[in-house]
Amino acid sequence: MIEIKNLTKVYRLNKKQMQESHTKNPKKVAVNHLSFLAKEGEIYGLLGPNGAGKTTTLRCIATIIKPTDGEIVVEGHEARKDSEAVRRSIGFLTSDIKLDPQFSVDYLFDFFGRLHNVPKDRLKARKEELFSYFGIRDFAHKPIKELSTGMKQKAAIAVSLVHDPKVIIFDEPTNGLDIITARSVTDYLRKLRDDGKVVIVSTHIMSEAQKLCDRIGVIIDGEKVAEGTVNELLIKTGGQDLEEAFFELYKAKKGA
Ligand SMILES: Nc1ncnc2c1ncn2[C@@H]1O[C@H](COP(=O)(O)OP(=O)(O)OP(=O)(O)O)[C@@H](O)[C@H]1O
Ligand SMILES: [Mg+2]
Repeated sequence: MIEIKNLTKVYRLNKKQMQESHTKNPKKVAVNHLSFLAKEGEIYGLLGPNGAGKTTTLRCIATIIKPTDGEIVVEGHEARKDSEAVRRSIGFLTSDIKLDPQFSVDYLFDFFGRLHNVPKDRLKARKEELFSYFGIRDFAHKPIKELSTGMKQKAAIAVSLVHDPKVIIFDEPTNGLDIITARSVTDYLRKLRDDGKVVIVSTHIMSEAQKLCDRIGVIIDGEKVAEGTVNELLIKTGGQDLEEAFFELYKAKKGA
């Protein structure tokens, strides 16, 4: 289980960043008192527009950046005190962590497997399963720099799952993928959910959230403005689909 309580992240902007954002305020509140729970056997979706604070939230959970305030507990481990244990229990995917372009998927998979202390025979079996599921075998020996966007994404997904983590945190996992590849990724996330894992995904794609997520937290300007199953969100907003529901929530938040 993942418990997030009052998570707040304030970035300190440098002069250049302040100029670029046309502000004189050196503080940017990216996530503002955000709380939610994600349980085993469910796919929890963080749904929000560009700049809503999705990646910031997920990076805090993955202990890549430190929250300004609030609590994060992953599988009983407090992120602040026991970041090592948190990192061991999660598989994290985000577009801003890139695999080293000169190495092959095959090499990187083994490298990260050893880093996570996955025993040799287990590693072999994991590779067999993931490479075959994602159709990686055909390009497993090519350097990452020679792969297409979709191949790179599949490679990153396989590597992030090498240690069979209990918790899966995927930031916009289908970004840049064609519908066939995207479907193989979302189907795999469903399988992980059905195996009893905790799955958190972020997305701004309404149709994907509607089909994939068991529960959704809608975040706008770093705040959670609504949460529930797709049906609950439709009832709450009177929308016909998630896109309409989202626009209702967006209008209410922005006071339009
Ligand atoms: N390292 C940083 N320094 C300063 N500001 C940042 C930094 N990273 C993100 N921000 C700002 O924090 C806010 C939230 O950004 P974040 O990347 O978390 O949003 P997001 O929901 O993932 O958006 P997207 O859909 O575009 O990926 C944005 O206003 C962004 O400009
Ligand atoms: Mg993002």
